[in-house]
Amino acid sequence: MNETSTATPGLAEETEAAAGTVQSTDATVGEIYVDDPRMTCRNVNVYYGEKQAIFDVSLDIGKNQVISMIGPSGCGKSTFLRCLNRMNDTIDVCRVTGQIKMDEQDIYDGGLDVVPLRASVGMVFQKPNPFPKSIYDNIAYGPKIHGLSDNKEHLDSIVESSLQRAGLWEEAKDRLDQPGTGLSGGQQQRLCIARAIAVSPEVILMDEPCSALDPIATAKIEELIDELRENFTIAIVTHSMQQAARVSQRTAYFHLGKLIEVGETDQIFTSPRHKLTEDYITGRFG
Ligand SMILES: Nc1ncnc2c1ncn2[C@@H]1O[C@H](COP(=O)(O)OP(=O)(O)O)[C@@H](O)[C@H]1O
Ligand SMILES: [Mg+2]
Repeated sequence: MNETSTATPGLAEETEAAAGTVQSTDATVGEIYVDDPRMTCRNVNVYYGEKQAIFDVSLDIGKNQVISMIGPSGCGKSTFLRCLNRMNDTIDVCRVTGQIKMDEQDIYDGGLDVVPLRASVGMVFQKPNPFPKSIYDNIAYGPKIHGLSDNKEHLDSIVESSLQRAGLWEEAKDRLDQPGTGLSGGQQQRLCIARAIAVSPEVILMDEPCSALDPIATAKIEELIDELRENFTIAIVTHSMQQAARVSQRTAYFHLGKLIEVGETDQIFTSPRHKLTEDYITGRFG
């Protein structure tokens, strides 16, 4: 196979194993299970029409942890994230197989109502998307339609506490009646996070939430993610490895629709066990 093949084949294999990286893409490398899962995904496949976008992904999402999903563009990060609150249902050609449970509930159970599911598994998108309504109404809308508030006072307190938890209260409290779209990009993204929080989610999904923001706004969102972890479980897609390293405890590396490797964030970035992960984090790919 090369000039060094004078070594016995067995020895060459051992040397490769000792060097540490796995090359096969058959099974995910690393620990897909956690002790205290909030969501469990088993053998998840996703198809867009004939085309398969996710291949047999099994992964636990740990409670009160941040897990980041990284990998080259088009590898299926957003597709997988959207499985977690059945957002793919909104795409006609999209079909999901396998099993995803939140606690003991199969979220793909035919009888399950997706409206409360999407409240308990909230989502924040790449581009901040406040409703064309006042700051107050952006937050109050969800609790109203989900029947979470008994009266105006209660609703006021949900609005205030959601803005507090999203780190936006001080900046917004004197302009609650003004349009949400009048806020800066970073403030709008915190408004969207506050809106997700207002309906008491258990899990918050974030798909590249900072990619439209400047570094200062990004730093604020990253700080916020770290605080939110105390009360919520967070899954974040990011194209920034630095961001993944800063905000997450666990990192999942995707490549061509497969979950190649998952592990503690420190381990993934300092001693990846799969060759493809290593290539990506060292900048040889993607
Ligand atoms: N709505 C869609 N219809 C058809 N194919 C899609 C759709 N969304 C994504 N895909 C395809 O699925 C694959 C994974 O895409 P995506 O999940 O967006 O990747 P990522 O978020 O990692 O960039 C890509 O090949 C993409 O072209
Ligand atoms: Mg994406």
